[in-house]
Amino acid sequence: MAIDINGKIAHYQTQINKHLELFFDNKIEEASRISNYTQEVAANAKEYTLRGGKRLRPIFFIYGYKCFSDDNIEAIIEASISIELMQSYLLIHDDIMDEDELRRGKPTFHIVYKNICEREFKKKGTLKFGENIALIAGDLLEAYGEEVLANSPFKCEYVMKALRKYAEMVKNVGYGQILDVMSEKKGNITEDEILMIHKLKTASYTIEGPLQIGAILAGAKGEDLLIMSDYGIPLGLAFQIQDDILGLFGSEEKIGKPVGSDIREGKKTLLILHALEKCGEKETEIITRALGNEDVTMDEIDIIRDIVRETGSLDYSQKLVKEKTEKAIQAIEGSNFRDEAKQFLVEIADFIGSREY
Ligand code: IPE
Ligand code: IPE
Ligand code: MG
Ligand code: MG
Repeated sequence: MAIDINGKIAHYQTQINKHLELFFDNKIEEASRISNYTQEVAANAKEYTLRGGKRLRPIFFIYGYKCFSDDNIEAIIEASISIELMQSYLLIHDDIMDEDELRRGKPTFHIVYKNICEREFKKKGTLKFGENIALIAGDLLEAYGEEVLANSPFKCEYVMKALRKYAEMVKNVGYGQILDVMSEKKGNITEDEILMIHKLKTASYTIEGPLQIGAILAGAKGEDLLIMSDYGIPLGLAFQIQDDILGLFGSEEKIGKPVGSDIREGKKTLLILHALEKCGEKETEIITRALGNEDVTMDEIDIIRDIVRETGSLDYSQKLVKEKTEKAIQAIEGSNFRDEAKQFLVEIADFIGSREY
């Protein structure tokens, strides 16, 4: 029987948001005992986290648990917000590094504080100030995530293992982001290197890790976690390749992030890599001129879109998304996890492979 995937996603999004609200209200109160400034940062972290977001990571966390158990669901939903707090931390830092000004349809955290600085202090160096506060807000959110997990009411041994996995995820994203930032500077990059970056910076904390933490809290064994890697890594790669496609061809309104920002930053995504391999001299020059150019125009980005389409590079990336999604589905179908969870994971894989936001 087909399941109502959208209904289930909406149900858990509401529950996750309810727990996030409660959590942040406590933190705002905690921070208010220190100073108005700390209270304001906690309040802005709440606004940032709750202004949008698909909540895919906590949903995978819940379903990792549901692969093995259907007891104590309220506690697992509460624990799952740890991974959304990690997401806020990573996004805030990522937007500083990528110099992006839009996230979930509103100003990025460093821009929120750049604006506060302009309004309240009217001094120079407002961007640096914004970035400083955003860095600290990110650090706080990382600690909040650990705190939620450490306080969760599961068996101590499982919580310990879950915290170890949490640290592993933060570490992997760190390694991935190092390579990602370096890739903008170093000249050549191969498809394998790009996929390695995707695996570290995205797949590990978006699908594989959340599923595994949830599963660990239900007492899953090593071999179960391996199946989650076989599902989570290809699906995480598909997720990031699709993110890059949406980052060039998507609608800013739908994705809530700037379109074309990879080009402006000089990032060689798979789309650009394959286009450069196939196109002529004139097109190579157009792409090379636009990559890393802060003042690149929408017209130039439009021309690059045409090149990416005409060289078959867009088709190539789309095919890869499909292949990786199918690989993930196969891995989960072969498992002996609880049926309800298995069905959900198959259907959400289809959603990820065809998402528009
Ligand atoms: C954005 O993740 C960062 C990437 C790993 C590509 P999402 O697309 O899940 O962002 P939100 O949480 O829904 O805003
Ligand atoms: C995604 O980085 C990985 C993390 C946020 C850790 P990107 O820079 O590719 O993601 P977006 O497009 O800004 O969401
Ligand atoms: Mg980014
Ligand atoms: Mg980035």
